[in-house]
Amino acid sequence: MDKIELMATSTFGMEALVKKEINDLGYEITEVKNGRITFEADLQAIPRANLWLRTAERVLLKVGDFKARDFDELYDGVRSLDWPGWLPENAEFPVSAKSIDSQLSSVPTCQSVTKKAVVDRLKAEYQREWFDEDGPLYPIELALYKDRAILTIDTSGTGLHKRGYRELSVKAPIQETIAAGMVYLSRWDKDRILIDPFCGSGTILIEAAMMAKNQAPGLKRKFNSEKWPVFEDFEWPRARVEAKKAKKINVEPRLIMGYDQDPEAISIARYHAKQAGVEDIIHFQEQKFADFSTNRKYGYVITNPPYGERMGEKEEVEELYREMGEKFRALETWSYYIITSHSKFEELFGKEASKRRKLYNGGVETQYYQYYGPWPPKN
Ligand SMILES: C[S@@+](CC[C@H](N)C(=O)[O-])C[C@H]1O[C@@H](n2cnc3c(N)ncnc32)[C@H](O)[C@@H]1O
Repeated sequence: MDKIELMATSTFGMEALVKKEINDLGYEITEVKNGRITFEADLQAIPRANLWLRTAERVLLKVGDFKARDFDELYDGVRSLDWPGWLPENAEFPVSAKSIDSQLSSVPTCQSVTKKAVVDRLKAEYQREWFDEDGPLYPIELALYKDRAILTIDTSGTGLHKRGYRELSVKAPIQETIAAGMVYLSRWDKDRILIDPFCGSGTILIEAAMMAKNQAPGLKRKFNSEKWPVFEDFEWPRARVEAKKAKKINVEPRLIMGYDQDPEAISIARYHAKQAGVEDIIHFQEQKFADFSTNRKYGYVITNPPYGERMGEKEEVEELYREMGEKFRALETWSYYIITSHSKFEELFGKEASKRRKLYNGGVETQYYQYYGPWPPKN
């Protein structure tokens, strides 16, 4: 098969990280626009990108794009694309649409015109009048931006943040893709100590541990495109075997530590770490932040403390941020990274961050406060 184009979708603030991950996988980026990172690839890139991307939300296959200022242009454009090259006769292909700054603004009509055009193209190809749609799933999306139509098929299925290890729920868990992004942005390296004193169900530390082990985040889950007949028997198994082989076994245990005052959160964190296959390198322990202390040097704190958004919690959280400031500032050789939606965080913490970055955690606008510490002396 010739070159194909894939688009990795990302949430606001994460595009540069997704771009870097795609480059690291060896693919060339052709466009970054509207939270979509387009890259040139081959068929094998579909399983590889799905298995390996930690910060992207989905991997879409771009079927084509064209100008669509009216419904005739939309119908003709969609019909002209190579749907039979991807969809088998029994494909199930729901169509969704979105329209931004475009003349075609009626989403339901755009959806039905697109569906009709795909069906008409398949009818001509397969010489039949009716499709049962009882085979593999091909979610088609029409995205209209400024009268340009982009047609994609979702190769992932459930969003990539669903790694498959997080089965139980706690209060306010952080999205896995954001947690991975926080670890990347901190530039933590696996030979340095890492602590999350408000670890909840352990997401940040589990993502970090998977990075330390070079473990593909998607290994524990399934993807839409695994059932697509366009793949021969080998592409998906080959990518899974490649990912399993890449996993490092000899990673030093006990450099990654998580604390939380809630014993239930700690037992869930342990369970999730086990599900993710990283329980051997993370130590979880019940502990109130008031008891937090360490005599280690050059460590990292990466954390998602409570935000104090609920009634009655605000004052308590503000006091906690003051306490965090006192304790972390005393750790002179440490670097600390804190995500919160609280607008007065730096003031309460008592120090301006070296850098800030706006991120959306499950739709909530937050800032990621980054305090850089010194490098350890070279030995
Ligand atoms: C926003 S949640 C962290 C969620 C976590 N990132 C996850 O993905 O599950 C904040 C956590 O801080 C814990 N917490 C709140 N106050 C604390 C305190 N004073 N000491 C220790 N833990 C505390 C809560 O029990 C909760 O699990």
